[in-house]
Amino acid sequence: MPKVMITGANRGIGRAMLDLYVARGWDCIATSRQDMPAQENVTWVNLDVRDPNSHQTIEGPLDLLICNAGVYLDKGATIGNGFSASDWSETMAANVTGVYLTIEAQLDAVRQSKAGKIAIISSQMASSTNAPGGSYIYRASKAAALNLGRNLSSDLKSEGIAVGIYHPGWVQTDMGGGEADIDVATASNGLIARFEELSIETTGCFETWDGRAHPY
Ligand SMILES: NC(=O)c1ccc[n+]([C@@H]2O[C@H](COP(=O)([O-])OP(=O)(O)OC[C@H]3O[C@@H](n4cnc5c(N)ncnc54)[C@H](OP(=O)(O)O)[C@@H]3O)[C@@H](O)[C@H]2O)c1
Repeated sequence: MPKVMITGANRGIGRAMLDLYVARGWDCIATSRQDMPAQENVTWVNLDVRDPNSHQTIEGPLDLLICNAGVYLDKGATIGNGFSASDWSETMAANVTGVYLTIEAQLDAVRQSKAGKIAIISSQMASSTNAPGGSYIYRASKAAALNLGRNLSSDLKSEGIAVGIYHPGWVQTDMGGGEADIDVATASNGLIARFEELSIETTGCFETWDGRAHPY
């Protein structure tokens, strides 16, 4: 069975994607910052993506690496009331450095797969084409994650590793809130269909959960 690793798999979209891969019988590596109850077909790994010492390379071949863990600390902030320096650094550490460290730590395992793939969960808020204002920290972090994914896609193409960057939708999770557009089942089913389609021909794509190309 293929092997998938998902960061931030203890709740939200990460948890929903994990449940789908477990149901499909995949060999699942799931990361969490806290201890999780044992589960069949799941190896739980303690990981704080911000901490370089927390990353352990897993046994390959790793067919799909999903960088999902993320934070949105400046929701509702306004200029002069929020956007603190600590929120900037915490967010960049989790949403950008965390993605890079995750990929760097697992790249050798991904290389062992015949057609290894890397999925980065960014956001529509990464877009510079659509710039409605506000949430500067989160938007900048997701834009950086998109940029990282695009550049990695160029560097890893010759190795046959495809990198996709995704907007999961506005999803009813702790982060998205109860008034969000779609539930985690819709988001996670859409995302895993996108990962299935991802190929070396489409590497570097920035897509929504339902398969639309998103403006950069
Ligand atoms: N929900 C939306 O509408 C929406 C829209 C666009 C993009 N996204 C993106 O989708 C991804 C998942 O979001 P979600 O809605 O499922 O959020 P969520 O419910 O808040 O879950 C976030 C997950 O990330 C983990 N995480 C946060 N910081 C971490 C760190 N430093 N190290 C390891 N894990 C960490 C959390 O772990 P803990 O439980 O330990 O905190 C949790 O498992 C995020 O990247 C988010 O930015 C979400």
